[in-house]
Amino acid sequence: MFLELRKNFFGFFKQRGHTVLKSSSLIPDDPSVLLTTAGMQQFKKYYTGELNPISDFSSARTVSIQKCFRTSDIDEVGDDIHLTFFEMMGNFSFGPVGSDDPKDFGQSGYLKRSAIVWGYEFITNILQINPERIHITAFGGDEEIPRDKESYDIWLDEIGLPEEKIKFGSRKDNFWGPTGNEGPCGPTTEIYVDDIEVWNVVFNEYYKTPTVTDKTRTVTDNSQSLSAYMKVNNPGIDTGIGYERLLATLEGVENVYETSAFVPMMEVLNQAAPGISQREIRILADHIRAASFLIADGIEPSNKEAGYILRRLLRRIIAIKIKNDIHSDIFQLGYEKVREMFRDIYPEIKDEKKIIGAWQEENSRFEESIAKGIKEIQKYKSISGRDAFYIYETFGLPLELIKELAPKDSIKNLSDSEFQKEFQKHQEVSRAGVEKKFGGHGLVLDTGELKAGSEEELKKVLALHTVTHLLHWALRKTLGDQIHQMGSDINPERLRFDFNFDRKLTPEEITEIETLVNDLIEKNLPVYFKEMPKAEAEKIALSFFKEKYPDIVKVYFVGSEESGGIISAEFCGGPHVSSTKEIGRFKIVKEESIGKGIRRVRAVVA
Ligand code: ALA
Repeated sequence: MFLELRKNFFGFFKQRGHTVLKSSSLIPDDPSVLLTTAGMQQFKKYYTGELNPISDFSSARTVSIQKCFRTSDIDEVGDDIHLTFFEMMGNFSFGPVGSDDPKDFGQSGYLKRSAIVWGYEFITNILQINPERIHITAFGGDEEIPRDKESYDIWLDEIGLPEEKIKFGSRKDNFWGPTGNEGPCGPTTEIYVDDIEVWNVVFNEYYKTPTVTDKTRTVTDNSQSLSAYMKVNNPGIDTGIGYERLLATLEGVENVYETSAFVPMMEVLNQAAPGISQREIRILADHIRAASFLIADGIEPSNKEAGYILRRLLRRIIAIKIKNDIHSDIFQLGYEKVREMFRDIYPEIKDEKKIIGAWQEENSRFEESIAKGIKEIQKYKSISGRDAFYIYETFGLPLELIKELAPKDSIKNLSDSEFQKEFQKHQEVSRAGVEKKFGGHGLVLDTGELKAGSEEELKKVLALHTVTHLLHWALRKTLGDQIHQMGSDINPERLRFDFNFDRKLTPEEITEIETLVNDLIEKNLPVYFKEMPKAEAEKIALSFFKEKYPDIVKVYFVGSEESGGIISAEFCGGPHVSSTKEIGRFKIVKEESIGKGIRRVRAVVA
């Protein structure tokens, strides 16, 4: 059925004058949207009239099966129908409108009549779904947008459905769009089979504006009022069918994971991880598939935007792997099934080197840290929002994973808002810190999950910051415990470190310091902080500017008891890398005197 449904869908609409188009990338060219969430996204400019469908597609009608990704459903993944990555089948019309007669198999635009009649015909004639199983919704209207009586009448009179099968729905359920902050949108009519929504038919009769500045439209006020929605001159049709859901209906199974789109992967995952919960197997299946497609389209794990979404998926896979003590490479196994299934449909999925490479890199970066985080979680009787933030910060476990992995009893008092508050507080601190360090560079970076002007530079700064602690330690080890920091400065190119010493360092000493630091980096030691009262911190940590610190201070540690002992503990606001391997190779590039008894080294990492 997997291939047959695709073929039938394309065939049906091709016969009715639609040009068959390929899916666009998961990375949209619309900067107001992070990822492609709907089939219509690649056609936005045809609805607005900026591009002409006849010159580009030889028809005002198109049909596609689009790769989509929705973060809004991420918490639901594991139930019967929600997925992050899914495929959406859709037929589209951009106008200008011709006859809107369902018997017109030409190339002109159409409206509600044709869209509804063809939708019903495809479902009942081609797919042979019993009309008894079907019911319909249409937009009931509100103070801004009138009731869609036209659709209701088509279902009733033209299709002949009984009244009790057609329900009016609210704005929440029967109005769609726009994607991003502006664009085509409108009332919908939806086809349900066995109470599951399978086909969303959108009438793009409106255009929602984000501002009042567009001179081509007369808008006087867009503050959530009717005037934000403008009737367009050239209405169109946008439809969407969740491919996997429809497949479940056709194959007579209760959930998408039992369809032919998932069975091969579910089988290998169940074999590779016997005895784990089916919910987790489903999450693995969804996330491995989704991550493979995101990477295939060029997304790399990072701390911002789409990269962060990918990172969350990959970390969740790692967490499930660790929690259940799975030793086989489930990602590789799952990916192979995805590739087999989709290689002829989406050639980009064949790039095993890129996809497995990204997985392996993320895995080696986070595996150890996440394993520690999972252990840490088990230590708490009760986890507060603050504790959760500490665990997130130290071990890289996102809140939703903490909730999932912690014993149920321990998260009763875990408040999302307290976590967010901590998160924001931290962002402010680290933003101030990073901005200061960037000094004249004029870059605005943010170490949280959100924006970063340049991910690469941020990484460099974090690495240099952590290696400064290691350098401090190595200087004391080589030159004696009387050495202490007198100043330090970091920019994306290099670190500068001033300390008390009264002669030039020999080349041997420089080499020894470099070797000591690089050895620590190689050991891949964890880097983390603890907050503690100043008095307690003073007993264990290096600090040379005590008077500046508040009563509760942050102490950053490199190394832990488990990793063979704490190497360095310093009063420090952060931020840092989470393990030393992320630093790269350390090299001292200059050593000089900057005053009596004060030396300065400059060093880089690469
Ligand atoms: N664009 C509509 C949707 O995504 C069809 O549901």
